[in-house]
Amino acid sequence: MEKKKNISMAVIKRLPKYHRYLGELLRNDVDRISSKELSEKIGFTASQIRQDLNCFGDFGQQGYGYNVRELHAQISSILGLNKDYNTIIIGAGNIGQAIANYRFDRFGFNIIGIFDANPKLVGIKIRDIEIQDIDRVPEYLKNNIVDIGVICVPKNNAQKVCDKLVQGGVKGIWNFAPIDLDAPEDITIENVHLSESVLTLIYLLNEKDQ
Ligand code: NAI
Repeated sequence: MEKKKNISMAVIKRLPKYHRYLGELLRNDVDRISSKELSEKIGFTASQIRQDLNCFGDFGQQGYGYNVRELHAQISSILGLNKDYNTIIIGAGNIGQAIANYRFDRFGFNIIGIFDANPKLVGIKIRDIEIQDIDRVPEYLKNNIVDIGVICVPKNNAQKVCDKLVQGGVKGIWNFAPIDLDAPEDITIENVHLSESVLTLIYLLNEKDQ
């Protein structure tokens, strides 16, 4: 399989959904699936699915469909799930603790450190990881390779936390604070906005009422 460059963001955003559904099929011992069947499950059209997967190489065979295990493995590899990502969480409040408690490690997203500015939280353990004082971050980043920093602090403090992570060599930021962060171009930032999802839900709910 040859990974092609310049894949559109829309296709990239659909890959996690393919990954999730194919994982479910694998767990249900489904060996192969046609684009039509996959389309019924996943909600994209069959031609959309064929087009999306064609961006990455020759998957599937005419009259056979897709080999579920192979396609799942290929999509995992395209997504970069075949390696581990050392991750630290900054801010151990509601969101930070929820993330620390969720089993993201099945994606290789390994939480190795949690930091907070509140002395009352420092020393408490979340799933065996002791919350450390935020001031220890620079030293921690000198001694550990960290790929991703998760920002879960109030928005007024998010930029300075981001700067600290970038200075320490962290290249990926998963930002929960409702602020657009400034960072050099080689830093990848993914913003999460649960509130946008709620607003969409509210809109769709009202639309059905009319
Ligand atoms: P929280 O108040 O429960 O936790 C924030 C934690 O950050 C506290 O433990 C605090 O001590 C710590 N903190 C503050 N400044 C810090 C600093 N400079 N360095 C290290 N730690 C610091 O807040 P919550 O509810 O967990 O929200 C966290 C962030 O996530 C906020 O920015 C909030 O607006 C945002 N949020 C985002 C959502 C989304 O969908 N993206 C949904 C809900 C909240």
